[in-house]
Amino acid sequence: MSTPDPALLHAATAVRENAYAPYSRFRVGAALRGASGVVYSGCNVENVAYPEGTCAEAGAIAAMVAAGETRFTEALVIADSPDPVPPCGGCRQKLAEFAAGDALVTLCTTQGAQMRTSVAELLPGRFSAAHMDRT
Ligand code: THU
Repeated sequence: MSTPDPALLHAATAVRENAYAPYSRFRVGAALRGASGVVYSGCNVENVAYPEGTCAEAGAIAAMVAAGETRFTEALVIADSPDPVPPCGGCRQKLAEFAAGDALVTLCTTQGAQMRTSVAELLPGRFSAAHMDRT
């Protein structure tokens, strides 16, 4: 697998600074390279009603879709975690909605550790539209 796009690392690192995480104090940044080439980013946004919080990946996806794009070619997530931060289950399904299975996903720590994976590796056996096909 190739090395992560430096622009994604830069964007995710920058947007992480804006994370609203007063409850977990765990700030996360995510960035996507849209199929058009544009970079979209998002951070986690928590809420006092804890389940209402949103993940960084969801924020980046929302920014991409709001801009009129529905495909990305590469993603990167960064947090100050001991090991490269793994997306939660829900975000894995969200990522799978908008990218090919072989799209590169780089998981990073703010200390410089990186783990390269793919959308398909993150979500084996994913639920797809084919599972709703009754014919
Ligand atoms: N979080 C993300 O934003 N992305 C991940 O990949 C893992 C977890 C957020 C959700 C919550 O605001 C905080 O990290 C702690 O779970």
